[in-house]
Amino acid sequence: ALISLRQLLDYAAEHSFAVPAFNISNMEQVQAIMQAAAACDSPVIMQGSAGANRYAGEVFLRHLILAAVEQYPHIPVVMHRDHAPSPDICAQAIQSGFSSVMMDGSLLEDMKTPASFDYNVEVTSRVVNMAHACGVSVEGEIGCLGSLENQQDSDHSRLLTDPDEAVEFVEQTQIDALAVAIGTSHGAYKFSKPPTGEVLVISRLKTLQQRLPNMHFVMHGSSSVPQDWLQVINEYGGNIAETYGVPVAEIVEGIKYGVRKVNIDTDLRMASTGAIRRFIAQPENAAELDARKIYQAARDAMRTLCQARYEAFGSAGHA
Ligand code: G3H
Ligand code: 13P
Ligand code: ZN
Repeated sequence: ALISLRQLLDYAAEHSFAVPAFNISNMEQVQAIMQAAAACDSPVIMQGSAGANRYAGEVFLRHLILAAVEQYPHIPVVMHRDHAPSPDICAQAIQSGFSSVMMDGSLLEDMKTPASFDYNVEVTSRVVNMAHACGVSVEGEIGCLGSLENQQDSDHSRLLTDPDEAVEFVEQTQIDALAVAIGTSHGAYKFSKPPTGEVLVISRLKTLQQRLPNMHFVMHGSSSVPQDWLQVINEYGGNIAETYGVPVAEIVEGIKYGVRKVNIDTDLRMASTGAIRRFIAQPENAAELDARKIYQAARDAMRTLCQARYEAFGSAGHA
């Protein structure tokens, strides 16, 4: 069944677990996410970004998720719009049936320029008013995502969510979930070496939870960048530079301090790219023309990864 983010995260908080929120843009990802959830009995969050809309089209994305809901009626599914740049885009998503939206007012509509606190409060409050009237949940963001490695002092403070600002933002907007900046960033190139507490500041979550004990925190940029998939990609013709992600153990630590939604896109990209490269490179597959075999290899790899995340974050067994 389709449920709102708030319903799911309230339940997750009661039971002290977090739910991975996987970005989707094609059918194989949706099926991998659902097969894994069915195998370990986990609720599901699937989210579509602007890039996913450009690739698949909003109608296809939405119907892929609705197909998952129909095929797996016993699994709770949240259909979430990731990083909407404006209240208008949120309104569109709400109208088309999404059960949750992220109003990303940490940046201006260009999605590059850091926005003022007042701008963020203004656009996010507008979305909350609209969304709550429709039973739809809202995720907001305070602080800007970005790597703390080699940062100037001026950038440094923006890249860590300020607890006073967070408290004020939550009070003024009445959001359902708060995305925080703790040193993670989108994509594969998060950290040039395995992250320490200096650049991946899990301790900030502890401070935030003391101030906002009832808030659900969202970690963006939370792919772990699996070293085994990185090696597979490079072994079969890829050329990915040395890089590290957010260790699963650090996310599990964050879950103790109120992290309830964990955004993952890059890890599924890596698993599918690695699996496809490896499959195609096998001599016994050299004459293979049935592309479904190739997609199947990708789907199986993603499924295994999804199940590992459901189990690690504790959502397994809670569908
Ligand atoms: O928000 C970040 C996600 O990884 C989406 O990336 O815009 O390339 O789909 P994308
Ligand atoms: P990753 O690039 O770490 O997978 O992060 C995805 C994300 O935060 C989507 O909003
Ligand atoms: Zn994100």
